[in-house]
This record gives sequence, C-alpha cells and structure tokens, in this order.
Amino acid sequence: MSNQEVFVTLYNKYIKREGAAELLAWLENETEFFDAPAGAKHHGAHTGGLVEHSLNVHHRLAKIASVEIFGVSGRIDLLAEDVKESIAVMGLLHDVCKHDVYHADGRGGFRYSDPFPFGHGEKSAYLISQHMKLTPAEALAIRWHMGAFDAAARGDLRQLDAAMDVTPWVWWLHEADMGAARIDEREVENDEPLQSVELGSGTGDKRHLECGLSVVFDP
Ligand SMILES: [Fe+2]
Ligand SMILES: [Fe+2]
Repeated sequence: MSNQEVFVTLYNKYIKREGAAELLAWLENETEFFDAPAGAKHHGAHTGGLVEHSLNVHHRLAKIASVEIFGVSGRIDLLAEDVKESIAVMGLLHDVCKHDVYHADGRGGFRYSDPFPFGHGEKSAYLISQHMKLTPAEALAIRWHMGAFDAAARGDLRQLDAAMDVTPWVWWLHEADMGAARIDEREVENDEPLQSVELGSGTGDKRHLECGLSVVFDP
C-alpha cells in the first residue's frame, strides 16, 4: 500500500464525524496534500514527505496515548473509539497547513510561499474547521503542536502554557510531532550511525536507546 492509501484507510477507519468525507475529498481533489513535501530543507523535503510525516505522527501519538493511558505500548486496541478518532484527527491532519506552500524551485528543491499566511497550527485548525468540527482538545493540540518552536510562543509563552494545562493532548501531539520529525525522518548529513545514549549502568544490564527507538537490553 502507498502512504496515501494507508492515510486514507486510517482516515476512513477512525474519523466518522460529520464533514469527514468532505474534508478528505477536498484534500484529495482540491489540494496537492498527498504530493507535498513536509518541509523545504529539513525533514520530509521530498514529494510525498507530508503524508509520510502525518502517518509517523499518527503512529507515535497512538503509542504515546497507549503508554500514558495504559502504561504499556501497543494497546491501541483498548482505546475508546472517540480517542482513536481524536488521534487520527490530530495525527493525520495537524499539518494540513503545509499543503500548497512548498513549490518546486526548478533545482530539485523547494521554496516556501504561503498563499494563505494564517500561521501554522492555527491555520491547520482553521482549514479543518471549514469542513469538520474539532473538539476543544483537538483544536488546542493542533494549534500548539509546534510547542515552544511556535513563533507566537516566543512572544508570549503564557498561551502555550495555559493550553498545556487544559489538556495533555497538547504536549502529546507536540511530542509525537517532534519524534516523527527529529527521529523517524532524521536526515542529517554525515550523521553518526546509531548514536547510543547510555540510560543505566551498574545494574548488570546495559540499556541503550538507539536512533530508531529500539531499546536494546544487553546483559
Ligand atoms: Fe507542523
Ligand atoms: Fe508536523
């Protein structure tokens, strides 16, 4: 299955609310969302990078929710239907603001030009809301998914802080977004292979967290 097919399958499986079909039809037929890169220079700076990133964020957010709510990863099946729907809405759609902003520069790269400069997370929330209602938690999480990297947060951190007080989904979506961009889609020139960070010592088992998120127990 292509990334677009996986995206559409997850979308139709989990997002059932009014307006969902119209929103998906808009993305498929009136935008280049499924071909767009996720960025001009850094992570996902290639055709299809945005849908790949959106899937990575969805998968990470589902894992984070499973760990936070049940204490173990991989029990996404136990989450309530409305929670699974929220995870799909936030993960798959948090970056719809990025459609139609990265344009081929003729040299194999992209240049940034936004025909609707409404911000970043707030623009995604606005565009989604044109077709489908968001819950307050979803709207806050999507609006603030850049966390302290959002230019508005640099001017006044109180709004971000208050949003994180309202719902943990603000932090969880930010965490999923950062993990996807910085680890899953890591593209660093001359990157050291599998940098290891020692998590514990002197316990008989050396634990290392390696890029790729595999935790290796090496007795
Ligand atoms: Fe974003
Ligand atoms: Fe993102």
